[in-house]
Amino acid sequence: MKHLLSINDLSVDDATGILDEASRFEQALAGREVRKLPTLRGRTVMTVFYENSTRTRVSFEVAGKWMSADVINVGISASSVSKGESLRDTALTLHRAGADALIVRHPDSGSAQLIAGWTTAADGTGPAVINAGDGTHEHPTQALLDAYTLRQRLGGLEGRRVVIVGDVLHSRVARSNALLLSKLGAEVVLVGPPTLMPVGVNAWPVTVGYSLDAELPAADAVMMLRVQAERMNGGFFPSAREYSITYGLNERRRAMLPEHAVVMHPGPMVRGMEIGYSVADSPQSTVLDQVANGVHVRMAVLFRLLVGVEEKV
Ligand code: CP
Repeated sequence: MKHLLSINDLSVDDATGILDEASRFEQALAGREVRKLPTLRGRTVMTVFYENSTRTRVSFEVAGKWMSADVINVGISASSVSKGESLRDTALTLHRAGADALIVRHPDSGSAQLIAGWTTAADGTGPAVINAGDGTHEHPTQALLDAYTLRQRLGGLEGRRVVIVGDVLHSRVARSNALLLSKLGAEVVLVGPPTLMPVGVNAWPVTVGYSLDAELPAADAVMMLRVQAERMNGGFFPSAREYSITYGLNERRRAMLPEHAVVMHPGPMVRGMEIGYSVADSPQSTVLDQVANGVHVRMAVLFRLLVGVEEKV
């Protein structure tokens, strides 16, 4: 595996191998005062984020540093992108400046794929490109950390029913999770307003519903999505109030979930609209576990791409 651009790049063995490696990293670092492994000493990891991020960018930086890589965060506003440099020239420049891995977030779907094409030579050399979110297309490491969290909380994914709720239309998290969780044996149900369901969703490996109340009693997990106002040109239908009433996960709805079910959100959350304040902070919520797991999963992804599958952590 050279790059991680889409969940489609992963076989079931690849995906479970990454989750198992993440678990080994978590165990290797548990209880340590000094969290530093020599795994990526001498390797250079660059993050290039054309869209804002807290969780993904920071956890990739922490993951690289815990494995002793040199991590360089390319600040787009302080880079030559502000002088009009193209994505291609920026990617080629970072490649030739020494990147072993390029971790890229960009508002355009397909941008990570383009970068991989530009920076990979005919003999396969060039940096590993990791898609950290491309437009409304995919966010594969988010899906991997969500699968890891579900496995940790529910003991496995086979036969589990995961209800993904909200703005599916603009959500790269929803697409990557639908692909990965179904690949790993879960049953995925998408629920949201018809106006926020993508055309072609019937070709996804999911079922689609429009009533959240109807889906909650049989759910093993409910994953609330962020409403991506920045991709809606100034307005969305239904209104924020209608959305909250019909699709918000409030205390009344949380009580409809089975006791063992977990509540997920990739963050950042819009509390009070997508998810109630007390629901986000409840014992059923995995929101902060998802953040912590994101570091170990991203360590496993960097390990797999830069070291390979033969060596064990
Ligand atoms: N979940 C997620 O991608 O969060 P950030 O935008 O903060 O990275």
